[in-house]
Amino acid sequence: MTPPRLLITRTLPDAVEQRAVATWPTRLNPDDRPLTVAELTAHPVEAILGCAVDRFDANVIQRLPPSVRVLATFSVGVDHIDLGAAKARGLIVTNTPDVLTDATADIAMLLILAACRRAGEGERLVRANQWTGWTPTQLMGIHVAGRRLGIYGMGRIGQALAHRARAFGLAIHYHNRSRLPLDQEQGAIYHPTVESLLAVSDILSLNAPATPATDRLLNAERIALLPRGAVLINTARGALVDDEAVIAALTSGHLAAAGLDVFRGEPALHPGYCTLENAVLLPHLGSATVDTRTAMGMKALDNIDAVLLGRDPPDRVV
Ligand code: DGY
Repeated sequence: MTPPRLLITRTLPDAVEQRAVATWPTRLNPDDRPLTVAELTAHPVEAILGCAVDRFDANVIQRLPPSVRVLATFSVGVDHIDLGAAKARGLIVTNTPDVLTDATADIAMLLILAACRRAGEGERLVRANQWTGWTPTQLMGIHVAGRRLGIYGMGRIGQALAHRARAFGLAIHYHNRSRLPLDQEQGAIYHPTVESLLAVSDILSLNAPATPATDRLLNAERIALLPRGAVLINTARGALVDDEAVIAALTSGHLAAAGLDVFRGEPALHPGYCTLENAVLLPHLGSATVDTRTAMGMKALDNIDAVLLGRDPPDRVV
């Protein structure tokens, strides 16, 4: 009997690829080129290890060879996969929760500090050789300690961000589908509605998944509820914000600054962001540490191994 085969859609950390090829006949992508739909669906493999940048919509899922039993995504987010279509086809989908919590919370904290303290502007000034020296009023930013951080989505990453932010003297407010138990809240103030959270958010961090319910959640009307001079942080998904509304608010000063790691349609982000001095822009680095990306790959392989060996995968989504 031929052993099950695996397709890995993008180049993964060495240790992950080494484990994959040592376990299953594996087709790698050494050029790390995004695969076309034809390439994603061409291989009669039993397992696919895909990434958040591969779109597994209903069309792609229907075109997958009948041999494919499991799609393990190298991400915690699953908004790039049509889960309904996967379920209908009997395709098992798994993701990589937990292992990227700390790295993503670190990037959210980094963006809070960078946006509040104007680190992007300062870096550009120095690099452009235009820094003429220290002055008492140069690049004065927002003092973080004592301000209120509103966290929209108090799951694993939201809670890890709250833990970090407390150490910087921020008061934590949050909105979640349901209130956390007291021991997990750790003094954070629960808001039953997003509107009530926005009203107290000097800094707003988006930490919820992209779903139809959160699409363009932060629109012009909701931005108007934020205190004037608020700071927006997004390490979740670009789809949560209305880009035109965010850019208008950054331009008018209603938003003092933004720190964004994710964008609608990335890498082709709205060009309006690139000319805004008060926007700190990162290329989706949330989970980008060697340890985290290796752990994500190992988790994806654990899930694939489980399915191919006839066991329940630990991180089954559908
Ligand atoms: C995820 O896991 O969903 C991230 O966005 C990819 O790093």
